[in-house]
Amino acid sequence: MLQDKITQYTEEIKAFAPSSAQEVEAFRLKFLVSKGILKNLFEEFKTVSSDEKRVLGKVLNEFKQLAENTFKDASEKFSNQNEGQTANAEGDLTLPGQGFSLGSRHPLSLVRKEIVEIFKKLGFVVAEGNEIEDDWHNFSALNFAPEHPARDMQDTFFIKKQDGNEMVLRTHTSSVQVRLMEAGKPPFRAIMPGRVYRNEAISARAHCFFHQIEGLYVDENVSFADLKQTLYHFVKELYGEDTKVRFRPSYFPFTEPSAEMDISCTICKGAGCQMCKYSGWVEILGCGMVDPNVLDNCGIDSKKYSGFAFGMGIERITNLKYEIRDLRLFSENDVRFLSQFETEII
Ligand code: PHE
Repeated sequence: MLQDKITQYTEEIKAFAPSSAQEVEAFRLKFLVSKGILKNLFEEFKTVSSDEKRVLGKVLNEFKQLAENTFKDASEKFSNQNEGQTANAEGDLTLPGQGFSLGSRHPLSLVRKEIVEIFKKLGFVVAEGNEIEDDWHNFSALNFAPEHPARDMQDTFFIKKQDGNEMVLRTHTSSVQVRLMEAGKPPFRAIMPGRVYRNEAISARAHCFFHQIEGLYVDENVSFADLKQTLYHFVKELYGEDTKVRFRPSYFPFTEPSAEMDISCTICKGAGCQMCKYSGWVEILGCGMVDPNVLDNCGIDSKKYSGFAFGMGIERITNLKYEIRDLRLFSENDVRFLSQFETEII
């Protein structure tokens, strides 16, 4: 009987839970093709009495809907899965490869590396210290008087530890000199790059953190001539043979005598521009002979040994090299800025 068949097949379709695309295809071949069950049922429908037709017409149409919808849902499910599987498992091997962007080195890292390499060739080794320092290493051992203005809240970030002791964020890399000398015996010949902190309002020309490179050379009979010769060599290596150098007397608590070193402006070659404030010269570092008090504070015999030290800001050197005029660019991580520098090839 037609009614029984429809009931039986309806149950079969309702229980249909395919687990592969092949099962969905088998369903189609069984029910929906031109010699399939659905077609047969419609053929059989033609043969029943008109009374039965009135009842069965509706039942048969509902069955047709059920079969078609079941097939549609099932084939959609498997066609989605297939797409996913293809992409994950093999992919379309004819598609072009997906490009990914390479990172680039930060300009400060590039310049730091360049500076370190120059001094390495002169026999300097790289040393590092702590960014959170105690007063001794950042100030006292370096001959800062207790009332020295650099200790003031204006310049220094202070940190109170749980045990009540006060620490500072190092205000310069000169603290690494102290750590190095305390821990070893002369001769010392080291270059010390690192981040330093000062309590400054952030602007194009100042930042609350920046980077320095410290140099220290301690041995018997080290003289100011050695200091000058080393720094002359450094400047010519970094900025070229034509760069002029001059020293101006200065003051640092930890060096005596002390000097600041200027170079002829690398942008205008000394003619005068905005970068050198129309003077033709730019200051790039502070330096001097290590004060005997500092040597003694670090357990080094100042009667036997002497030394020189220098410290420079990496940002300043980088600005002069790449004509960067706003310090904030270094820490904002704007890819439009960063991607202009050397790409790192791994
Ligand atoms: N520490 C000094 C500064 O931060 C620089 C310096 C280092 C000067 C070593 C002399 C010797 O300005």
